[in-house]
Amino acid sequence: MHKAATKETSPDRIAKLTVADFPRVMQIERAAFPNGRRKTVDGYRSCIVDGKKHGNVYVVWRADTIVGYLHVKHEAMPKVLLCNLATDPAHEGMGIGTFAINWLRKKSAGNKSSLIFLHVRASKPDTIAWYKHRGFTEIKRGPCGYKVGSGDELTKVTMELDLSAPMR
Ligand SMILES: CC(C)(COP(=O)(O)OP(=O)(O)OC[C@H]1O[C@@H](n2cnc3c(N)ncnc32)[C@H](O)[C@@H]1OP(=O)(O)O)[C@@H](O)C(=O)NCCC(=O)NCCS
Repeated sequence: MHKAATKETSPDRIAKLTVADFPRVMQIERAAFPNGRRKTVDGYRSCIVDGKKHGNVYVVWRADTIVGYLHVKHEAMPKVLLCNLATDPAHEGMGIGTFAINWLRKKSAGNKSSLIFLHVRASKPDTIAWYKHRGFTEIKRGPCGYKVGSGDELTKVTMELDLSAPMR
């Protein structure tokens, strides 16, 4: 998964989603979550119109290319919910996910939030290991509420990151 990030491959900025970004973000979503539930155009539009209710989507850029995105809810609340994070599979292992997490950490700490939490299906041990590597701790496991899938796909793992912990 990990290829060394270089100046040429490193992401350089994160900006709020715009309508022009929809096709590229949806392309990354399809590639990163081939079996997942998809957000519709209306779903993305809702985030732009009312981010407080639906959460904000932020896109990660490298030069003029979108290479990833994240969807965040409860910003500026004590517990920030990271609903989704995805890197374009063609750009995996180049530090994009780490760049996004560190950006969210700084932003959330600046808002005086105390932690970031997320849910991930138990059927994704690599993703769980990746979040642990980034400093997240597993808090609990329970039914995920979706009816689609079987076995570990029906279990959600809740993880959280204490914002007072040192950045990795
Ligand atoms: C999970 C995901 C966001 C990671 O993004 P990424 O851009 O590839 O991650 P990075 O390049 O920043 O990660 C590199 C680091 O993770 C480490 N790493 C990679 N895979 C790992 C694993 N399975 N376990 C532990 N560490 C891992 C690398 O060694 C490297 O560590 P370093 O920074 O200490 O050198 C990406 O793989 C993805 O989009 N997956 C599909 C969608 C998904 O499952 N999203 C999360 C659920 S919401």
